[in-house]
Amino acid sequence: MSAATYGSLDPTNLGNFGNPLRLPGEDGLLGFLGASDTPVSLVACKERVGVLPGKETRTLVYRAGQDGRVLLNPVLIAEKGVGFSAELVNGLREEETTIHWHGLHLDWRADGHPSRQVGPGATHRYEFPVLNAGGTYWYHPHAHENTARQTYLGLAGFFLVRDEEDRRLNEALGLKLGETDIPLVIQDKTFAEDGSLVYEPSEMDRSMGVTGETILVNLTPTPFLVAENRVYRFRLLNASNARILRLALARPNESVPLAYRVVATDGSLLGRPRAVEELFLAPGERADVLLDLTGFEPGEEVALKSLAFDPMHREHEMGEGMNHGLDYAMTHDAHHDTGQERHAGRGDPGEGASMGGMDHAGASRLGDGQEFYLLRLVVKEQAGRGVSGSRMPETLSEVPEPDLSEAITRRVTLSADTEGDETRWLINGRTYDPNECPIVIRRGEVEVWEIRNEQRSMPHPMHLHAFRFRVLGRAGSPEQVSRLAVDRQGRTAMDLGWKDTVLVWPGETVRIAIDFSHGFEGEQLYLFHCHILEHEDSGMMVNVKVVEP
Ligand code: C2O
Ligand code: CU
Ligand code: CU
Repeated sequence: MSAATYGSLDPTNLGNFGNPLRLPGEDGLLGFLGASDTPVSLVACKERVGVLPGKETRTLVYRAGQDGRVLLNPVLIAEKGVGFSAELVNGLREEETTIHWHGLHLDWRADGHPSRQVGPGATHRYEFPVLNAGGTYWYHPHAHENTARQTYLGLAGFFLVRDEEDRRLNEALGLKLGETDIPLVIQDKTFAEDGSLVYEPSEMDRSMGVTGETILVNLTPTPFLVAENRVYRFRLLNASNARILRLALARPNESVPLAYRVVATDGSLLGRPRAVEELFLAPGERADVLLDLTGFEPGEEVALKSLAFDPMHREHEMGEGMNHGLDYAMTHDAHHDTGQERHAGRGDPGEGASMGGMDHAGASRLGDGQEFYLLRLVVKEQAGRGVSGSRMPETLSEVPEPDLSEAITRRVTLSADTEGDETRWLINGRTYDPNECPIVIRRGEVEVWEIRNEQRSMPHPMHLHAFRFRVLGRAGSPEQVSRLAVDRQGRTAMDLGWKDTVLVWPGETVRIAIDFSHGFEGEQLYLFHCHILEHEDSGMMVNVKVVEP
């Protein structure tokens, strides 16, 4: 995209945030689709949608119909304990696909494993009882070596599970799904001049993951939302291929962050709300947060943003002792010195324009770890009937510490194998082999996985299919993470609930506990992989088999 066009979409300039945020509604993109005891049909297909102002973009979407409504990438709503049934119709020409139900505890035959692809023109029915606790889950393709592209081009949606506890929180705060309880999917993409999506990863992009320069929230660039002065629940999903977010809330032109509360992580509610000023949200992760706007006057504004951080991207290429993150140094200094000019020489017109704004390092115009805004909230003129934060429940759920008395410990090492521009990311020294199963677990075992990311590496959000886990502790964390610790185990607020994806920084060791109990029939074949989708596609993934004891 030319500099002129990109200018109005530049997320580092809050003045640009004039597009009404797309809210999930009755139909169209992100429409709500009740899926409890009602079979749904999802057609994976090409569709033109209006993402950028005044332009159409060819994307891939899941198209669903219900009672004469057409929904694209519907927000599926399922009740805990009730059956779910979805038919995937592969309407893509010449490519296979699957649907993976990210975070859901289900029989592997319904998990969308890449060994069970659905060919072009073919259909497949996914059926399972919803066993997970109420919370924010999602679905996306898991095609063999083609997940990154299909997801980037548009295939992704929310899967909300409702249960008693989740309902209780919403009732206490008078929250209503779609109005004051809002799913927000965050993605970064690069668009060409004509509005089309650019996905042409270079060798370097494949190694580092593809980031885009346009930030979309619910497929809206530079969005704003008119809000009441009350409490809001945002269900945040990072569905980017590779970009990590450091989420904070601040008044315009003020750098002092405002506190907000985390109430749920990937797999349901925390024990109690946790006040934070920031959190890291990596690809695949979710956080449900409460924003308390009760003290705000009509006309006041607040911005959801991603703060600058050290992306620790190139640790694997640097000598020991060298300092990290050129991107970070540039944007960080620029931000603090002038408070204005955040590009600091990047993204000048003409610079690297041939690759849709990519520079020589393969990063987009919006560097990883650079500060930008996500959403401008404007408190409405006639405010005042809001529900205040004083009705905040003190407890949300039981999240017991796991029983580790019989647990065995498994070591998992993440490392890099670099040759020139190309880096292969390894799990325990190897890349994915569809025919091999390096991790075999007996059903019912509790395991502690000690995931160690080498110092010469980059951050990897590691995701396990079908089983939720607890984070036991972090060691060797970089300062930007260790300073967020809330307990002696080095855990951050994001580590205190049930998780299915955990970010492991270079030099860090993260211990997680997983209970491999399940009630499914026979041997189960799942996956453990990095959720930077280019890493997953290039083999930073292993089969995980759960066998009968
Ligand atoms: Cu959301 Cu196997 O991934
Ligand atoms: Cu998953
Ligand atoms: Cu990775």
